[in-house]
Amino acid sequence: MKSFKHYYIIFILCFFSCSEQKQELTLISEEDKSNSYSINNKVEELLSKMTLEEKVGQMNQYNGFWDLTGPAPAEGDAARKYEHLRKGYVGSMLNVRGVEDVRKVQKIAVEETRLGIPLIIGFDVIHGYETLSPIPLAEAASWDLEAIKKSASVAAEEASAAGINWTFAPMVDISRDARWGRVMEGAGEDPYLGSKIAEARVKGFQGENLSDYNTIAACAKHFAGYGFSEAGRDYNTVDVGTSTLYNTIFPPFQAAQDAGVRTFMNSFNELNGVPATGNEFLQRDILKDKWNFDGFMVSDWGSIAEMIAHGHAKDGKQAAEIAVKAGSDMDMESYLYVEELAELVREGKVDEKLIDDAVRRILRVKFELGLFEDPYKYCNEEREKTTLGNPEIHQAVLDMALKSVVLLKNDKNLLPLRKNNLNIAVIGALADDKTSPLGSWRIAAKDETAISVLEGLAQYSGNNITYAKGADVSIGETSFAKELTINTTDKSGFGEAKSIAKNADVVIMVLGEHGFQSGEARSRTDIGLPGVQQELLEEVYGINKNIILVLNNGRPLAIPWAAEHIPAIVEAWQLGTQSGNAIAKVLYGDYNPSGKLPMSFPRNVGQIPIYYNYKNTGRPSNPEPGVVFWSHYIDQSNTPLYPFGHGLSYSEFEYSDLNVDEVSDNEINVSFKLRNKSNVKGKEVAQLYIRDLYASVTRPVKELKGFEIVELDSFEEKEVVIKLSKSDFGFYNNVGEFIIEPGEFIIFVGGSSATTLEKKIDLQWKENH
Ligand code: NOJ
Repeated sequence: MKSFKHYYIIFILCFFSCSEQKQELTLISEEDKSNSYSINNKVEELLSKMTLEEKVGQMNQYNGFWDLTGPAPAEGDAARKYEHLRKGYVGSMLNVRGVEDVRKVQKIAVEETRLGIPLIIGFDVIHGYETLSPIPLAEAASWDLEAIKKSASVAAEEASAAGINWTFAPMVDISRDARWGRVMEGAGEDPYLGSKIAEARVKGFQGENLSDYNTIAACAKHFAGYGFSEAGRDYNTVDVGTSTLYNTIFPPFQAAQDAGVRTFMNSFNELNGVPATGNEFLQRDILKDKWNFDGFMVSDWGSIAEMIAHGHAKDGKQAAEIAVKAGSDMDMESYLYVEELAELVREGKVDEKLIDDAVRRILRVKFELGLFEDPYKYCNEEREKTTLGNPEIHQAVLDMALKSVVLLKNDKNLLPLRKNNLNIAVIGALADDKTSPLGSWRIAAKDETAISVLEGLAQYSGNNITYAKGADVSIGETSFAKELTINTTDKSGFGEAKSIAKNADVVIMVLGEHGFQSGEARSRTDIGLPGVQQELLEEVYGINKNIILVLNNGRPLAIPWAAEHIPAIVEAWQLGTQSGNAIAKVLYGDYNPSGKLPMSFPRNVGQIPIYYNYKNTGRPSNPEPGVVFWSHYIDQSNTPLYPFGHGLSYSEFEYSDLNVDEVSDNEINVSFKLRNKSNVKGKEVAQLYIRDLYASVTRPVKELKGFEIVELDSFEEKEVVIKLSKSDFGFYNNVGEFIIEPGEFIIFVGGSSATTLEKKIDLQWKENH
C-alpha cells in the first residue's frame, strides 16, 4: 500500500562549498589516477618531440570548407588550410561534418603529417545534430535535469556518429535581457537553475567516459559575461560589478567545471574594459588557477583578431601575444597563432612554457577522447547510417519537446481540446512551417524536417480542421548567415483568416518569431509579435474570441494585449524536429504540460533588464496612493507579465503547511504539502526560494535554492522535503570570497517565483561549520 505521505529529499550539494567539493574531487579511483598518469606521460613524451611550429599548429583551429558559423574567410583560404593541414599546423577543425568529410581531413592529419597527431573535430551541437531537440531555453523550461542530460547524450550519440567529437555547448551565459537573441541558447536568468542545467548538459554530452565512441567533449561558453551585453546588442560591451560577476555570471561556469567539462570558450565581449579573449583575470586567475581547470580554452570565432577593433591590441601580432598570455589556448579562425606565435617566442616576447602549457591541455583532451588509439573511431559509415534520425532519437526529442512546453494561461479551461466534433480554424504561417521549429542552431539539420503544427494536429482525425496563413512572418530566403526580412505590410491574407475563424468553434493561432529571428546576431529592440501578426491576432479576435495562442519564439516576448484578451496561451518555443507532434499532444491533453519559465516575460521592452532576483533598493514598492518618490515607472508596473518559474498545468495544485526544521548544525529541512486539487494527474515543479534580509553585500529579494518535480495523481497530496545546507545561505563578497553570514532569512515556497508560502527564520550558525 502506498502511504499517504511521501517524503522527498533533495540533497542540495552546493558547488560553492569548498569542503564538500574537495571531498568529491579526492574520490578519484585508482584506475582514474593511473589513466591520467599515463595520459600525462604520453602528453609529455609527444610534446618533447614537437617542433615549435608543430606545437603552435595544435593551437590553431580552422573552419572547414563548407558551413560557416562566423564571418566568411577570404578567397584562397582553402588552399592555405590544406597546406597547413599537411604540415601539421592545424590542431582542430570546426564545421567539418559527416563521416566521409571528417575521415578526409583526419587522414591528412594522421597519415600525412610528421607526427600524425589527430584533429579534434568541433561543431555547434547545441540542441541536437540532425534530429533536433527544443532550443536550450525551451529545454530549460522543463526544469527536468534528467531529461536535459538525456537530450545532450542523444545529441552526442548522433553527432559522434557523424564524425564529431567536440561540441561548442553548453552555452551557460546567464542573461536578463530578452532583446539579446542568444537567450535562446542558454538556460535563462537564474544562476541556480543555470548551474544545475550546465551540469546536466556537460554530463549528458561527455557521459561516464569521454573515450566512449558515442560521447563528445563539451565546451562551457562564453567565458564570461557575454549575456550581459549592453542594451542586449550582440557582441556589445559588458560592464558588471564584482557581485554580479561572482554571484550571477560565474556559478554556471563553475558548475560546468565541477562537472568535468573538458573545454571552455571565451567570449566576444569586453568585460570591464578588457576583452574576454585577452583577459588574464578570467582565464588564468579564475578558471585555471582558482578553479583548477586542466582542459583547454578555445577562442570564439575570430575573437583574437577582434581585440584590434576593441581597441586593446595594436595589430595581429600583439593580439596573439595578449591572447596567449591571458590563457586562450586555441585560436578559432583568427589565423593569428599560426602566423605570429612562433616568431613571438623566438623574439622572447612569449615564453615557450606558455605554448607548452596550452599544447599539453589540448593533447590531454585528445588522449582522453581516445583519438590517438583510433583517430577514426567516430568515422564509422555503418554507425552513421543507422544512428542519424533513428526512432529512439526521435522518441527522445519528442519527450524533451513535451516537457518544454509552458502553459501560460488557460481561462475557463479552454484547453485541453475535445477530440471530436469540433470545427477548428488554424491560423498563422508558423503553423505550416517545417523549418522554423528547428531554431537557428541547426546547421546539420535539413530544411523542412520538423513536424509542423498542422501535421501534428492532423493525427487527431475526430475534428474538422481548416487552415489559413493569415500573414507571412518573414519574406524571402532565410538562413543562419542571412538577415531575415519581416513582413510588416502584407495583410492580404487577413480576409481568409477571418472567414475561417467565423465558423470555427475554436481558433488555434500559431504566432511568434521565425527560428532565424533569434540566435547569434539576432538582437531586437521590439520584442512583441513581429510584423503584422499582432494586428492579425486582434482582427481575428474581433471575429471569434475562442482563441488558443500557440507561441513560437526563441526569447521571452512582450505580449500584454494577448495576455489580457486571449483565453489560452501555450508557450511552444522552437521545439525542434518533433515540434508539431508535441504541440498537438499538449493541446489535446495527451500530455499534461508542466514547464515553467526560465526567464521573466516583460510587459514591455522598457522594463528590461527584468529578473525575479532583483535587489530591493532603498525605496521599494510603496502602495500608498499619491506617493511619488519610490523606485517605479509612472507608466507601467514593476512586475513582469509572467514571472520566472511560472507555468500552469491541466491539474490544479495547492501548497500548504510550510515548516522549517533545523536538523543539524549545518542543515535545515524545508517541508510543505502539495496537493492536486483536480481529477487530472499531473506534475508540478515545486520551487524553493530564500531571501537574506540583511548582509554585508545586499542580497536579492528572492533566490532559487531548490526545486523538485512532483508527480501527483488526481486529488493526491504529498509532503515534499527539501534540504538546505549552510552553504546555500552564503554568497560571494566584493573581493570574490565565499562567505556565510548569520541572520534572518525568509523561506518561500510555491509554483513560481511569485511564491505562495513563506516563513521567516533566524539562522545563527555554530562556529567551525
Ligand atoms: C561564434 C559563436 O559565438 C560560438 O558560440 C560558436 O560556437 C562559434 N561561432 C563557432 O560556430
